[in-house]
Amino acid sequence: MEYSEQVMDHFMNPRNVREMEDASGVGTVGNVKCGDIMRVYLKIQNDVVTDASFKTFGCGAAVATSSMATEMVKGKTIAEVVKITNAAVMDALDGLPKVKAHCSVLAEEAVHAALWDYAQKNGLTIEGLKPPKEGDEH
Ligand code: FES
Repeated sequence: MEYSEQVMDHFMNPRNVREMEDASGVGTVGNVKCGDIMRVYLKIQNDVVTDASFKTFGCGAAVATSSMATEMVKGKTIAEVVKITNAAVMDALDGLPKVKAHCSVLAEEAVHAALWDYAQKNGLTIEGLKPPKEGDEH
């Protein structure tokens, strides 16, 4: 299996790995097949993601995609973040081996789940955002 330099870099030196005590939204998702778990923290001010971090109990590809995803969402508006797909994260990493594509889905879902949590806490509706799925299979 071949990993791009970007994937290796984000796996070896993952960005934004930490818990966030004052997060505006926290999303935790799991993949029932591999058992990996991803938690994403977002800080949101005036509709803009000002900080993002993650913690994971997951494989290397999950670490790399979450690292990249947290970098990509910073500075973006909520509306922009909703539109960030796992495909966009994979592109930014110069691709992932096919069998590892589901790992990037975990990153996208965790970001969306964190937005959902933020919306719930603030009584907001975020256009285009779906509720997190339970026991999702990829
Ligand atoms: Fe489970 Fe990658 S193998 S997230």
